[in-house]
Formats: sequence, structure tokens, C-alpha cells
Amino acid sequence: MIRLCVFDAYGTLFDVTAAARETAREQEGETLALHWRQIAADWRQKQLQYTWIRAVSGTHADFWQVTQDSLDWALEAAGLTAAPGLRERLLELYLELAAYPEVPEMLSRLKGAGLATAILSNGSPGMLEAAVRSAGIGGELDAVLSVERVGVFKPHASVYRMVPEHFGCAPDETLFVSSNGWDAAAAAGFGFRAVWVNRAGEPVDRLPWRPERILTDLGAIPQVAGEL
Ligand code: LAC
Repeated sequence: MIRLCVFDAYGTLFDVTAAARETAREQEGETLALHWRQIAADWRQKQLQYTWIRAVSGTHADFWQVTQDSLDWALEAAGLTAAPGLRERLLELYLELAAYPEVPEMLSRLKGAGLATAILSNGSPGMLEAAVRSAGIGGELDAVLSVERVGVFKPHASVYRMVPEHFGCAPDETLFVSSNGWDAAAAAGFGFRAVWVNRAGEPVDRLPWRPERILTDLGAIPQVAGEL
């Protein structure tokens, strides 16, 4: 029986493409209008790669540093390093990312069903606090757990272990939800019941573990939590 629902943050509850999309809307001219999708994709891909490399090589830096480093790579790749104010605006918006539209109701349905809810994220405590505040979902979350407590990024097992330690629940009483296929897979490997939210219709990651369910958005999470 599921007692606790734990969510990845970036890409799962919060739309990570929103910062580049919003900046493209604000700025005059075609440059960003043409490039924002590529910038958003490069930014995210490099951000994740840097977390894995830092975890494997034992060179942790917090997610805010990694987010800036990966943005610098993405802006240079797009030839936009010198665009006035662009870097600062993108970073500012990353601290106020929108939550996906179904998030507030989904969380309140989980709370109404008596489940505990939490975020488990690579994000630094300051980044997570800002995102939760701007999305207005703090009242629906029992805990916001950052990897900064253990000083290593996902998918290191010590990150997932924070959940049973914090809540005193067994891993198989925990529904773990992520839009990152590798995160959902590694969470299943840890022993959580794992759901992959596959908004983009990507193939399943070829890793030793598979998520138990695959959904296209978060709307059905309360139902899945009740079924398992
Ligand atoms: C996180 C990244 C992996 O929030 O999306 O942990």
C-alpha cells in the first residue's frame, strides 16, 4: 500500500522549458524566437550530463552552479553569449518556473486521500524554495528534500535513501514520480514503486530497471497511488 508520493522537481512538477520560452516572448527580434527551443534542450541536456559527471567523479557543486555552467554552454553554442541581459533573465526565470497545470489539483487530491507528499530533487534548497513559492504549492508538500543534504546528485542511492530516512516508510510504500526516464528507472532499482511521466513519448531507457507505470502527465497519479 502506498503511503507517500515523492516527486522529482525539474521537468516533473516544474516546466524547465518555460524560462527560455518566456524570455523569447519578452525579447524583441527573431534571434531568440528561432533559437529558444535549442537553447532549452541544450541547457537541460548539459545540466543533467554535468550532474552525472560530477557524481561519478566525486566533484560535487550545487545545482545552481551546474545550472549556470550548462546555460553558458548552451548560449555559446547558440552564438548568444554576448546578448545583453539574456543570461541574467534566463537564470531569473529559472527560479520562478511554472508548475504544470495539473499539479495543484493532483497534490490536493493526494493530500485529501491521506497520503504524504514530498519533492526529492537535485535542486539546491534555495532554488527549490523559490520554485515551490512561485508555484504556490508549499501548503501541499510535507517535505522538500534536496541532494545538498548528502552532497551528491541522482541517481546515487544515498539520494533516494533520504526518503525512507525522513519519513520512516519502507521504499515499497513510496510512489516515486519522475519525468526523467533514468531517474524513474534508478528509483525502481532502489526499491520504490516508480512512475515515469513521459510527456514527450520517448522510448523507455535501456537500463537494468523499469518503471512500474508510464503516464503522459500527472493527472492520474492519485488513482495510480490508490491502485498500488
Ligand atoms: C531534479 C532533476 C533531476 O529535480 O530534474 O532532481
